[in-house]
Amino acid sequence: MTSQETRGTWSSREPSSQPMQSVGSMYTRHSAMSTSRHRGTQPKTSYMPPRSTPHPSSSLRKRPDGAKRYVIEDFRQAFERKGMELDTTRKLGRGKYSKVYKAVDRNNNRLFAVKAIDVLELTSDVKNKFLPREISCWRKLKNPYLVSLHAQYEAQNMIFLTMEYGSQGDLLRYVQDNGGIDERRAGQFMSQLMRGLQYMHSKQIAHRDIKLENIILFDNCVKLSDFGFVRQVDNQTLSLTFCGSKSYSAPELLRGIGYNPFLSDVWSLGVVGFVMVTNRMPFDEKKPNNVIVELQRNRQYVIPDSVYLSSSCISSFEAMMTFDAKQRPSSNDCLGLPWITPHIEMASRRSG
Ligand SMILES: Nc1ncnc2c1ncn2[C@@H]1O[C@H](COP(=O)(O)OP(=O)(O)O)[C@@H](O)[C@H]1O
Ligand SMILES: [Mg+2]
Repeated sequence: MTSQETRGTWSSREPSSQPMQSVGSMYTRHSAMSTSRHRGTQPKTSYMPPRSTPHPSSSLRKRPDGAKRYVIEDFRQAFERKGMELDTTRKLGRGKYSKVYKAVDRNNNRLFAVKAIDVLELTSDVKNKFLPREISCWRKLKNPYLVSLHAQYEAQNMIFLTMEYGSQGDLLRYVQDNGGIDERRAGQFMSQLMRGLQYMHSKQIAHRDIKLENIILFDNCVKLSDFGFVRQVDNQTLSLTFCGSKSYSAPELLRGIGYNPFLSDVWSLGVVGFVMVTNRMPFDEKKPNNVIVELQRNRQYVIPDSVYLSSSCISSFEAMMTFDAKQRPSSNDCLGLPWITPHIEMASRRSG
């Protein structure tokens, strides 16, 4: 296996592109506290959302067809034949449909993260529509601020996606463990994420699931990851599938109207910026959608008293969270926001 490889060969089975199917809400579950815009009485504990609910384990044990249930250990030898040592003792993380493990390529000691997806656990929409899109779009994405796909393997009912390994874990865990990030460092992260997003958008690919647990920390930077809900569309086409997490959703998604997925990505990244510096979610997702939309319209969220933020930081995430999508800056425009621009200029000065 070479470092350029993007497709493994355990099986000739390719996830086929299936015709589009209609889907319902794809929201993952989060909870949140109520907020109001102005600085005020601080909550005793700052709120951070729990992770996406893992797939119920009961369905793992019993398969309707009585087929053997393969566990990750069953694939260690197959990885070994590729020269890869898969560490099954500890998960790097898990999502709604996957578990992620660490592996080392013994040929060059390179570390990888391996996303293991059990196809039998997927809904038909995920299996036939979202997963094929994730793989085909991810292969096209090559940017320093997007986690890169290395190889894809299939065996029995499993699909393994090997990708570059982020040694510092995901951003949600980081903020939960360390509290809010200082504005300057968060601004560096925002500039990296915005460059990754602007690159995706320049390829007409929208992410549609931007949130802290889908951002991976490397030694010197952050990268966007989890392309499970990506969509390749031209800028005029509105999306109708409501994916992502409610806490990060733009008002147009909550209102259930067709939305421009590029502009809703910008909103979600604005929420990421807010959470990075405040260690709080701006909006309470337990509230009904119409109530959240009014809070979003009136910018009713709390910035804790203990957190000092400059006007350039606040005006930047507020611009990203512009209520009217038509007035919201594109990811390209956002590179010029005062919280983001200085870090881009610094990076280009360093590389120049
Ligand atoms: N490249 C990586 N390096 C380190 N940890 C990762 C990496 N990719 C994912 N993870 C961890 O695994 C979790 C789930 O991965 P993700 O791709 O988001 O799966 P899902 O599509 O099921 O949500 C992430 O939230 C993160 O904690
Ligand atoms: Mg995820």
